[in-house]
Amino acid sequence: MSAPENIGEVLFSAERIQDRVRELGDTISKDYKGTDPVLICMLRGAAIFTGDLVRSISVPLTLDFMAISNYTSGESSGAVKILKDLEESIEAREVIVVEDIVATGLTLSYLLRSLQARNPASLKVCTLLDRVVARIIDVPLAYRGFELPDVFVVGYGLDFQQHYRNLPFICTLKSETRAPEL
Ligand code: IMP
Ligand code: MG
Repeated sequence: MSAPENIGEVLFSAERIQDRVRELGDTISKDYKGTDPVLICMLRGAAIFTGDLVRSISVPLTLDFMAISNYTSGESSGAVKILKDLEESIEAREVIVVEDIVATGLTLSYLLRSLQARNPASLKVCTLLDRVVARIIDVPLAYRGFELPDVFVVGYGLDFQQHYRNLPFICTLKSETRAPEL
């Protein structure tokens, strides 16, 4: 485990996350009954969440992966780059984008425009976390695990300097100003 002495407060325990992910999977299974959706896992943050979520969904589905640069990591241009594109076409497919966290909504808003242009039958978003207080652009979230206060969190896929993704719970850090000691 990465730098356990830097772990702050546990906001969502492993058990609470597992329960909520199962609920989301049940809801998606009901909503998508009789269809064969494609779930798009947004790398890298949503990898752990997606792995658990798909195993809680009972309808047939396919899984694809996409990576984009975060809007916030760009300078002023606001450009979001596709670092890894989908392997398969989403035309006429029922699409569910799986995200780790939606904050400003800027990254997701760009992504949704790009995916909509590929003519899916439907396009919905499932996010584990929603930091709604940080929202700048309104983005429709069909499924949401937990609402998050205005704090930075790691664990269950979410990182700080690429670490802490392997924690089974979601927590704050005591310090975000230095590289974690491993
Ligand atoms: P936004 O909605 O465009 O502001 O960007 C959300 C993205 O920023 C997420 O997909 C994460 O990659 C990253 N992010 C935002 N808040 C956090 C956090 O608390 N921990 C880890 N990553 C975060
Ligand atoms: Mg992300």
